[in-house]
Amino acid sequence: MTALVCPRCRRADDDGVHLATVEPCDTGLRCLGCGSGYPVIDGIPVVARDAEALLAEDTPASDALAAIYARSWSGPLQEWLRKTVPAGALELGGGTGVRSNTVVLDRSLAMLRRGRSAGQEPAGTWICGDVLDPPFLPASFGCVVLANVLDILHDPNLAFRQAVALTAVGGAIVVTCPYAFTQSGPDCRLEPFPEHVLHGGFGAVEAGVLRLESCAELDWPIRTTDRLTQVHRTDALVFRRLSLPGEQ
Ligand SMILES: C[S@@+](CC[C@H](N)C(=O)[O-])C[C@H]1O[C@@H](n2cnc3c(N)ncnc32)[C@H](O)[C@@H]1O
Ligand SMILES: [Zn+2]
Repeated sequence: MTALVCPRCRRADDDGVHLATVEPCDTGLRCLGCGSGYPVIDGIPVVARDAEALLAEDTPASDALAAIYARSWSGPLQEWLRKTVPAGALELGGGTGVRSNTVVLDRSLAMLRRGRSAGQEPAGTWICGDVLDPPFLPASFGCVVLANVLDILHDPNLAFRQAVALTAVGGAIVVTCPYAFTQSGPDCRLEPFPEHVLHGGFGAVEAGVLRLESCAELDWPIRTTDRLTQVHRTDALVFRRLSLPGEQ
């Protein structure tokens, strides 16, 4: 089972990074450090600083959106992801998942429920939480995926840095992006980033932290209704996490 870190008491100071894990208890999950409780709903742990607020975001519209993703499992990008993403990878903003026995983190319980009931083989792990504050141990995954999520976040740079921090040295970061920037609403603070920023790993390639290994353009069809399919042309990139002096 993937170790889950408590987002409420995680902190960094002069002595380093302080992390506590959460463990099962009678009412769901409890942090061994600060004692915070987290719910488990339909078998899905909700591990976020403000778990109540995340759950309150779920509306009938979330389920309608999740249904669209759940029937959009075929297409060039989807097939590339299934081939490229290994079992045990972490999908950040994974929605209904790529269906290859991954750990899927998403803030929408509706998405996770749909993905989980559609069934990966074997079952995969589904966790409700925030990409910008992910409840995992640093460098604990051999592959981290950001599929079609960076361009809907208000801080894509932070999300990318979180993905790098969660990837073990030698591991891969798989990123796909349609550059659609379609989210709107009062909280929308999107600042579109250009292709070269993503291809440079938000500065991590130049800093020697990552190497860009491959880059393709692939169509991503989304079956909005039975009679309407929208196709985004996405960039699909694979980065490798390099070791830094002192790391191994
Ligand atoms: C466009 S969908 C892509 C889903 C999936 N990766 C795919 O390619 O099919 C974006 C997903 O990111 C999730 N998401 C958005 N902001 C998030 C955040 N801050 N933390 C976790 N998930 C987030 C949404 O709930 C949604 O499931
Ligand atoms: Zn805690």
